[in-house]
Amino acid sequence: MQHILTTADLRKVTASFSEARESIALVPTMGNLHSGHISLVELAKQNAEHVIVSLFVNPSQFGQGEDYLEYPRTLEIDSLKLEQAGIKMLFVPKVEEIYPLGLDDATHIEVPDLSDDLCGESRPGHFFGVTSVVCRLLNICNPDIAVFGQKDYQQYVILQRMVSDLNIPVRLLLGPTQREGNGLAMSSRNGYLSKGEKKQASFIYSTLVAASEEIIQDSSDLNGIEINAFEEMTKKGFKVDYVAIRRSSDLKKPKGGDTKLVILAAARLGNVRLIDNVLVKLTKN
Ligand code: PAF
Repeated sequence: MQHILTTADLRKVTASFSEARESIALVPTMGNLHSGHISLVELAKQNAEHVIVSLFVNPSQFGQGEDYLEYPRTLEIDSLKLEQAGIKMLFVPKVEEIYPLGLDDATHIEVPDLSDDLCGESRPGHFFGVTSVVCRLLNICNPDIAVFGQKDYQQYVILQRMVSDLNIPVRLLLGPTQREGNGLAMSSRNGYLSKGEKKQASFIYSTLVAASEEIIQDSSDLNGIEINAFEEMTKKGFKVDYVAIRRSSDLKKPKGGDTKLVILAAARLGNVRLIDNVLVKLTKN
């Protein structure tokens, strides 16, 4: 496994691929890899000749009091997992490589409104950090494709808007959420949960599935379905940030006639904040 540390070295590699007209897929990660990440790598491999994985715990997307310092850094084992998945190149830049002017003086990229909604409401500044780093990674790597996981659906919609608005020539792919046997969405932060909490946490997914079935049965009272799911999770001991039914294309509130929806939730179990979502497709009458 080749560990590439600098922008200059990565550019040399990607330039040689581009000159040979060979396609490149980027899988951006913050490490502590699980099967969900590996499924994104597999999707990338199906769609490009070369796959580059980046591993960078991005300080600008963590708010004050969040787990930036504690975030698990497991480079050696991540590197082994990627090697087993057939990956040859891992971009592991230092913070100074990505933000050479320092975090305070760095140029920031922000998608307005949507970045302050849903998860943005309880994590102010989070998406501004995500767009700022992903824009840099895309500029450094110049991939044809970049792959993101559906668990972070709002992140994906925000990044779609960023690449379209800034004319970044990349196609974003969405990899389906990988789940534990009980339905819990795989996430690096699940490692903070006890065995009992992991069992309890799967209730988020079952609640969203039940709500999505209700929407398919009768979509006339979406607000009622949101409130009901919120209350069910609260009764089970979650501190719920939101349950929201939105249009899947832009995460705006659905209007009558919209058929592609998504139900999203964020809830805390103790100190751990969990997110999940389920896409819902309605048939037109
Ligand atoms: O989804 C993540 O792991 C991160 O938000 C990302 C896209 C790697 C940016 O740091």
